[in-house]
Amino acid sequence: MNIDFKKLADKYQTPYYVYDFDYISNQYNELKTAFKARKSLIAYAVKANSNLSVIKHLANLGAGADCVSIGEVKRALKVGIPSYKIIFSGVGKIDDEIRTALELDILMINVESAAELDRVELIAKELGKVARISIRVNPNIDPQTHPYISTGLHENKFGVDIDTAKRMYIQCNNSENLEPVGIHCHIGSQLTQLEPIKESVKIVADLVKNLKAIKIELSFMDVGGGLGIIYNEEKLIDTNEYAQAILETMFGLDITVVCEPGRFIVGNAGTFITKVLYEKINGEKRFVIVDGAMNDLIRPSLYNAYHKIEVLNDNKELSLCNLVGPVCESGDFFAKDVELPKTKHNDLVAIYSAGAYCFTMASNYNTRGRVAEIAVQNGVDKLIRKRETFEDIIALEEEFIN
Ligand code: LLP
Repeated sequence: MNIDFKKLADKYQTPYYVYDFDYISNQYNELKTAFKARKSLIAYAVKANSNLSVIKHLANLGAGADCVSIGEVKRALKVGIPSYKIIFSGVGKIDDEIRTALELDILMINVESAAELDRVELIAKELGKVARISIRVNPNIDPQTHPYISTGLHENKFGVDIDTAKRMYIQCNNSENLEPVGIHCHIGSQLTQLEPIKESVKIVADLVKNLKAIKIELSFMDVGGGLGIIYNEEKLIDTNEYAQAILETMFGLDITVVCEPGRFIVGNAGTFITKVLYEKINGEKRFVIVDGAMNDLIRPSLYNAYHKIEVLNDNKELSLCNLVGPVCESGDFFAKDVELPKTKHNDLVAIYSAGAYCFTMASNYNTRGRVAEIAVQNGVDKLIRKRETFEDIIALEEEFIN
C-alpha cells in the first residue's frame, strides 16, 4: 500500500477512511484461486464494508454477496451483483424482508430456526413462489476467537443443531413452496486456527451426505466467512490450506462451494486517518487527543481490539500515552498505554486495519457526522462517500419540529 495520507488530508480534510482497491482485488483473487479445483462462489460479507463503490468493485471481480438485511441485499443489487449470487442470512428476518427477498428472487435464504422456516413457507405460499432454502447449522464448535464474534457454539444464538436441520430439510423437501438448495455454517470471525473450521465443515459435509442418502440433494455448501487478518502479530490460516481442507470434505459430492469472507477481503485494505488536536497531561498520564473518535471507529472501545497506530511525524522520542477522541465517554479511546512520539497540532495519525467493521459500525453519537471515505486504485484517489454535514444528520428530524 503506497498512499499519500498527507495529500489526501489536504484534499479531503480529516478524519477519513481510505481503502486500497488494488489490495481488495488481490485478496479476492487469492481466495478465488484457492478454490479453483471446484465451482465456487465468493459471496462478500457486505456488513464488513458496505460502501457501494467497495461492493461494486467486488461485483466487477465476480463476487456474490452475503447479506444480513434487505438493505444490504438492495445495496448488492444496486451495484450490479446478480440476484443469483446473493444470499440472505440472519437470525431475525422481518416478514417484509422475507417477502422482498422472495420477490427479488435471490439465490437462497439462509434460514436460522424452525420457526423462521415456517414463516418463509407461509410467505412463499402467499406469493405463490418457491423459496430456495439453505439452513444454517450450528456445529457446536469453539472457534477460539473473541467471545463477541464467536457464533458456532450452541450457547450462541446462531443456526440450528444437526437434528433440527435434518427435520427442516425434510420439511423443505415435502413442501410445495420450499426447495432445499444449500447448507450453511459460520462459526465465528477473525479465525486464526484451521482445526475448528475443518471440524465444523466436516460435520456439515456429513449432513450433506446423509441427506443425499435420503434423496435430498443440495447444490451449495456455504462454509461461512471468518478468515482472520493481521492486526498485530497474528499467525494466519494459509488460504490454500483452508480451501484444501474444505474441498477434501466435499469429495464425491457434486456441490458448489460458497464462502462469505468480509474482513479477509477488506480489513487490511483500509486505514483511518485522524489528526492531533491537543496533548495534555493529567497527573502522570499523557493523553493525545485526535479529531476521530469512538463513533467513527468503535472496535477498540467495544472489543478492546488492537489496531496498529502510527503518528506520521519524524519525532523519534516515544512515551506512553492514551490516544483518545473528543467524545464524552471514558471508553472513547483508540489505544491505551501505547508508545507514541511527541505530537503537535495537526500531526496525522494512521490507524491501520480499518477496512472492515469500522465505517459500517460508525454512528452519529455526539452529533458527529460520519467521516469521508476515499478509494485509491492505480494511484488515483476518489471520494466514495462524502463527509456528513450537520444538515445531513438532522435531515430526517426537521419535519417533526412543532
Ligand atoms: N457470514 C456470516 C453469517 C457472518 O455472521 C459473518 C460475520 C461473516 C460471514 C463475515 O465474517 P468475516 O469474514 O468478516 O469474519 N464487528 C465484528 C465482527 C462481526 C462479524 C459478524 N459476522 C468486529 O469488528 O470484529
